[in-house]
Amino acid sequence: MRKESRFETRTIHEGYDSHTHHNSLASPIYQTSTFTFETAEAGEKRFAGEEPGYIYSRLGNPTVKMLEERIASLEGAEAGLAFGSGMAAVSAVLFHLVRSGDHILCSEGVYGCTFGLLQLMKEKFSVEHDLLPLDSREQILQAIQPNTSVIYIETPINPTLKLIDLKMISSIAKERGITVVVDNTFSTPYLQRPLEFDCDIVLHSATKYIGGHGDVVAGLVVGDHEMISSIAKSTQKDIGGILSPFDAWLLLRGLKTLPLRMDRHCENSQSIVHKLKEHPKIKKVMYPGLEESPSYSIAKKQMKKPGGLICFELEGGKAEAQAFMNRLEMIKIAVSLGDAETLIQHPATMTHAVVPEEERVRMGINDSLIRISIGLEAWEDIWADIEQALEM
Ligand SMILES: Cc1ncc(COP(=O)(O)O)c(C=O)c1O
Repeated sequence: MRKESRFETRTIHEGYDSHTHHNSLASPIYQTSTFTFETAEAGEKRFAGEEPGYIYSRLGNPTVKMLEERIASLEGAEAGLAFGSGMAAVSAVLFHLVRSGDHILCSEGVYGCTFGLLQLMKEKFSVEHDLLPLDSREQILQAIQPNTSVIYIETPINPTLKLIDLKMISSIAKERGITVVVDNTFSTPYLQRPLEFDCDIVLHSATKYIGGHGDVVAGLVVGDHEMISSIAKSTQKDIGGILSPFDAWLLLRGLKTLPLRMDRHCENSQSIVHKLKEHPKIKKVMYPGLEESPSYSIAKKQMKKPGGLICFELEGGKAEAQAFMNRLEMIKIAVSLGDAETLIQHPATMTHAVVPEEERVRMGINDSLIRISIGLEAWEDIWADIEQALEM
């Protein structure tokens, strides 16, 4: 494939050359646990790295490799790695980057299990962390400690959809020799490429928009050759949270339609956001594409479009939020996002239930907050379902 091919072309062709696979249009699935050696000496050479080739699927697999090359190209990275879940990716990266006694500076309002992992690292391995809004240079400089080795951010933040200025973070981190890790799950490389803003590592729960069809749990990480190769040889190989060849194949297929799907998710969201804003029972709407959003100017700077997730607050509290969700007919109650189906969830009792209440409220996750992942259905039908559930 030509090096200068555009993003949309690379989502389809990157990492796969049909000529080397019997001209099969669809990429093959190498559903194998291990690879045979012609001779014992060949096996020895492969282990010593003196001869190229696969050894065992936890150390590498051709189908998985195609996916790793494709995601690296889409994020503008030198190399990529695939994992069995988004959390396997998050934990492999963090365990690789920190040692006991280090400090992680983290955006306030990360995914609940990422918060859980930070707690675990603190309790078991004395890795400290601070969760902060990270919205001003002064505040970040104040929060950095001599032992801060990682700044870990989500943008948009799950579930409040606040944005963090990637360039501001990376410029501070570069001055201090701190590694910046960005969870890019909500945006995908089609909407935002953090490496272009000098961040160091990008990771994904590929379970979401990258898979796009609600049928696979997976994680992806990209970065430079040196970083990726050392993660592959340490926390991936020895902890072992790898992706299966079939799941890699599903993601390769999902990626082929990523730009089309993301455009539709974003268009539908724009329409639904405007309807929600006009509705008298909606107290507040959060979407980085709204001009009055505090994140609007950052969205313009670092995102192609503002994404397919919307948060809103209803009048009332938990009971009213749950009653509204129970009245929905087409929209499904589920805690994933980025699928063809519109999915709705209540962060305070679902994705962020593990976060202590005080912390949760500080993050802006109150009992009336609802998160909706706008699907690919006709937006008029999505709105009709929301409207009827609000009316009753
Ligand atoms: C932003 C974000 N990061 C990471 C994860 C974890 O991914 P997985 O469920 O694939 O392990 C999730 C899951 O919802 C998420 O929303």
